[in-house]
This record gives sequence, structure tokens and C-alpha cells, in this order.
Amino acid sequence: MIEEIREQPVALARTLQAGVARARKFQRLVEKKRPRLVVLVARGTSDNAALFGRYLLEIATGIPVSLAAPSIATLYRAKVDYRDALVVALSQSGESTDTNRVLEWARARGALTLGITNERASTLAGLAEHVWLVRAGKERSVAATKTYTGQMLLLYLLAHALGGRIRLPELERLPALVADALGLEEEMAELAPRYRFMNRAVVVGRGLNYANAFEFALKLMETCYVVAERFSTADLLHGPIALAEPGLPVFAFAPSGVTWESMGQTMDKLRAMHAEVLAISDPANREVETRASRVIRLPRQIPELLTPIPYIVPAQLFAAYLALEKGLDPDRPRTLSKVTLTL
Ligand code: F6R
Repeated sequence: MIEEIREQPVALARTLQAGVARARKFQRLVEKKRPRLVVLVARGTSDNAALFGRYLLEIATGIPVSLAAPSIATLYRAKVDYRDALVVALSQSGESTDTNRVLEWARARGALTLGITNERASTLAGLAEHVWLVRAGKERSVAATKTYTGQMLLLYLLAHALGGRIRLPELERLPALVADALGLEEEMAELAPRYRFMNRAVVVGRGLNYANAFEFALKLMETCYVVAERFSTADLLHGPIALAEPGLPVFAFAPSGVTWESMGQTMDKLRAMHAEVLAISDPANREVETRASRVIRLPRQIPELLTPIPYIVPAQLFAAYLALEKGLDPDRPRTLSKVTLTL
């Protein structure tokens, strides 16, 4: 897992380089007939990438985006009308059964279909009309890392292809921003022992980083067996904050930008309840120091739109090192395998 985390700058650069031509071709197609709706379908980490895509695509393109509930197709066989919709399936393996069945169902019911996968020869690549490859190289660790950020990158390209205000030169900065974030490895390795006995935690994010809260929590659950709940700051204040108590570990994605005000206020409330808040932030956010118990700072200021990929990197590293600290193997969590077959 740690090696694959480190491979991300190269994987992202490769994925972007090959993805641009695909995006141009797709752009010409959707310019002729713009989808009125985008539906994203995925499971697990890929579903977290999809959650990011929901925010990004709506913010950047104005097209409404929905996350598919697979059972509507796989169990209820509901005859949803997908005409004028673009259905995008994301799966690193391309073998998640229900993700594939939803895509197949949607295609038969009139959708334009796009598959985003790390595996060129997968079932998903055969089912979708258009295929965009994450070029991360084989992902061996059960805990997905480089395919998550690769999927997110392709979602930026999709937003661009759909006419969204995403500029390619901005995306070209991402591999270097991730390389910067990898400079935090030693700090994360040194931090992990402080959390050796952690068995529950809360992760918060907002807006474009809401998906990262899901992804960090998933990594803590599957590799460290920590019961990790994830919330947007708004949802947390609507009830769950009552569970905060002295010493409760809270992890917060806290970039500067439009989400900071609500994040800062939530952090104040958590501190008042003596929770221990660790914030991931960057040098532009000068207020975070006084609001969190501890701050992990990305080395460079990053425009909020570009934060989600570099911000997940210290979280991935933390989960991997915490697993080792707990005597667990982050590559092979108990009971899990690389492909999960669900209906
Ligand atoms: C988590 C993880 C799983 C997968 C999920 C979907 O780290 O690896 O949650 O993301 O099983 O798998 P794919 O992406 O192959 O459809």
C-alpha cells in the first residue's frame, strides 16, 4: 500500500497524458448532444471517487448529477428512463458485479455509457460504449489508493469534456502537488504511534473534500479496524456532534476557501467538547492553527478546486502507517479480497 501511495505522481501524470485525447473525442460527441443528467455508479473506494465527481461535475458543469443506487436495477429491475443521461461506471478492477449490471441495464435503457477502470481487459471495459483507463499499473494492495486518485483525475477530465470550467494546465499541476504531499510521509509515520490504541474516530469534510472524509474513514476501517464515522460539517451539527467527548479523535479536511467558515465553526464546537481534532490544511489557512489540536500542512497553497487529490495523500499514509503500528498488514485486511461480488 505504501509503495502504491508513492507511485501516485507517476500514475497521475500517465493517466492525464493518455486521457486528454479521449476527453477531446468525448467532448466532440457531447457537444452535439449534451446530457441532461449524469449518473455515477460504483462501490467502495470507487464510490467515494464518484461522490467527489458528483460535487465536481455539478459545480463545474451545472449538469445535475446523481449517484446510482444499484439495487434499483439489480434487485428491483426498475425500468428507469435513462434517455439523455450519461451513466458513468467507476471500478478499479472493472469486475464489481452490480456496478457492471447497472451500467449494462442503463445502456439498454437508453443511456450514453462511460466506463472508468484500471483494467483494460475487464468486463466493464467490454460493457461500456466509451472507456477511459486509469493508468495506475496493477494495484496489488487490497486497499485502493492510486486508483482512487486516478479516478478523481479522470472525473476532472470528464468535467472538462462536458464544458466545465476546468483548465488542462491546472490539472497538469496535480502530479507535482501529490509529490509535495508525499513529503509528509515521515511526519505521518511519526504521528501514527500516538494513535496506536484508537478504535473509533470521526472524519469530517465539506464540499469537494466530503468524499475524502468517506475515503479516509474507509481506509481507517479496512486497514486499521477503527470504527470511523464520516460526516459533512453540516450533517455533524444536525445531531451526531452530541457523541463528541474528551479525547475523541476527529480528522478534518480543512482547506482554505468556501468550505473553511463552516469547518472552522465546527472545529470550535468540537474543541469546546474537548475532542482531539487533527486538521489537514495548507499554508494559506492561517486560522486553522488556533482551531485544531494539531495541523498537518500540505507544503504549498493549493486552489480549493485542486485540493481533493493532494489532500487524501497524508490520510492514505496515516492509515498505512497506523495499520503497521497496530501490527496489521494494510495490504491484506482480514476477510477482504481485491474483487468483491455483490448484488
Ligand atoms: C477499498 C477497496 C474496495 C473497492 C470496492 C470496489 O480500498 O478497495 O472498497 O473499492 O470493492 O472495487 P472496484 O473499484 O474494483 O469496483
